[in-house]
Amino acid sequence: MLEVERLSCGYGAAVVLHELSLTVKRGEIVALIGPNGAGKTSTLQCIAGHVRATSGNVRFGGRDITALTPQARVRAGIAISPEGRKLFGDMTVRENLLVGGYSQPGRVAAYNMQRVLDMFPRLQERFGSMGRTLSGGEQQMVAIGRALMAQPDLILIDELSLGLMPKNVDICYAALDQLKQQGLAVLLVEQNLSKALAFSDRVYVLDSGRLVWSGSAKAARARGDLAATILGHAPAEAGAQEEALP
Ligand SMILES: Nc1ncnc2c1ncn2[C@@H]1O[C@H](COP(=O)(O)OP(=O)(O)OP(=O)(O)O)[C@@H](O)[C@H]1O
Ligand SMILES: [Mg+2]
Repeated sequence: MLEVERLSCGYGAAVVLHELSLTVKRGEIVALIGPNGAGKTSTLQCIAGHVRATSGNVRFGGRDITALTPQARVRAGIAISPEGRKLFGDMTVRENLLVGGYSQPGRVAAYNMQRVLDMFPRLQERFGSMGRTLSGGEQQMVAIGRALMAQPDLILIDELSLGLMPKNVDICYAALDQLKQQGLAVLLVEQNLSKALAFSDRVYVLDSGRLVWSGSAKAARARGDLAATILGHAPAEAGAQEEALP
């Protein structure tokens, strides 16, 4: 479904991603992991069209989308839940979700809204609450829900579990499993290595903007040294405390 071929991107003169190739198939959860500054967010933002590719290409459903605007990529079926969730603090949960459905006719948006609320019943309870009053976990549910409002075939999720209580990490991962069953493709950036390896089908490891390892999650799990030798740190675990919006 998604084919990234020798993709490079950067900011001004600085190249931060060097000829990365990766694929994500329908119904597959793929994790992109690596240390801070490795280029994980840049990769997702380049696939979503917010950061321009300097070389290489991105194909989606057999079509070259490298030159498309972010809006056209949403219409093509790619949605993103960005790093830091990026909710509108002065808008309600309902309004934040509606932002994600802007490209859909009203009837479709209403249907998708119901699907999001079925997936995250907690959001039904918080439906009229302002974004800034939500816990980190609730924010993440809204960010995923907002992406789903666009009815994507591929969802890009940056830092799924960062700052979330373990209970909410489980809720979010259960949602990913459900999406996988429905045939969606997921490209996931995750600091929590044990969760990433437990839930994904395949793993790509980036370091300094370059691919340093890729393989099945099973092979990654068998490599007990993955965290220490490739990431240079022990696996991060979900925090006990959630951060609210500032
Ligand atoms: N808007 C920007 N302008 C200039 N440089 C940037 C910008 N965003 C990221 N970078 C640089 O690009 C490199 C890759 O950053 P990126 O945010 O993609 O990494 P990451 O793997 O997502 O890191 P983290 O784990 O900290 O989220 C870093 O050196 C970073 O400083
Ligand atoms: Mg990042």
